[in-house]
Amino acid sequence: MPLPIAVLVSGRGSNLAALIDAGEAGKLPVTFALVASDKADAAALRKAEAHGIPTLALDPKTFASRREFDEALFANVAASGAQLVVLAGYMRIIDAAVTAEWAGRMINIHPSLLPKYRGLHTHRRVLKARDIEHGASVHFVSADLDGGPVIAQAHIDVHPGDSEDSLAERLLHKEHLLLVACVDAIARGDVCERSGAVWYRGRPITAPLRLGDGGHLTCA
Ligand code: GAR
Repeated sequence: MPLPIAVLVSGRGSNLAALIDAGEAGKLPVTFALVASDKADAAALRKAEAHGIPTLALDPKTFASRREFDEALFANVAASGAQLVVLAGYMRIIDAAVTAEWAGRMINIHPSLLPKYRGLHTHRRVLKARDIEHGASVHFVSADLDGGPVIAQAHIDVHPGDSEDSLAERLLHKEHLLLVACVDAIARGDVCERSGAVWYRGRPITAPLRLGDGGHLTCA
C-alpha cells in the first residue's frame, strides 16, 4: 500500500518536484495527500497543482498566534489522511505541541551536516569556517529547531573558489536524491523513529545513514 504523505513548502519546490517525479516514475511508494504552504505565492504550490495534487495556503498573519496557525494547518494535514509530513523547504518554526503530536511522523531536509549549522545561511557558514566538506541532512522533526534525530546525510566536497551559490547548487542535486531515498525508506518500513532514536531495518543506528552512489542509503 502506498503511504499517503503531505509536503509542506515555502518556496521554489525543487525537493517537492523530486518527490513528485519519483512517485510518477513508480520509484516511490507514496501518494500525495496534500501540499501546503505558509506562502500563497510559493512556486511549489503551482508545481503541485500542475500535477493534480490538492493544495492549501494559509497566511500566518491571519492567526492570533503560532499555535493557532499550526493547529489549523495540521488539522488540514490530518484531514488529508497523510501519515507522514515532509518539510521540503518549509521555512517556519512549528509549535512544540504540534511537533510532539507528529513525532516520528514528520521529517525535514536541512542543507548542512547536522548537528553543524542549524538554522539559516548554512552555505555561508561552511565557507566562513573553511570546512572542506558540506552536506545535507534529513531528520525526524522535534521541538528543537533542526535538532531531531538524523536519519541520513549526503556529503559534498567544498572546492577552492566555491561561492554560496555554487555550493547550494551542487548540494541541491544531492538533496533531491537524499530526500527521495529517506521517504522511500520510511514508506517501505525500513526506517522509523522509536523513543527518539532512528531505527533502520530493525536496529537503532549509531550514526546517520549515508547517501551512496546510485541514490541508495548505506550504514555508515
Ligand atoms: C533546500 O535547500 C532545503 O534544504 C532548504 O531550503 C531549500 C528549499 O529548496 N531548507 C531549509 O533551509 C530548512 N531549514 P526547494 O524549495 O527548491 O526544495
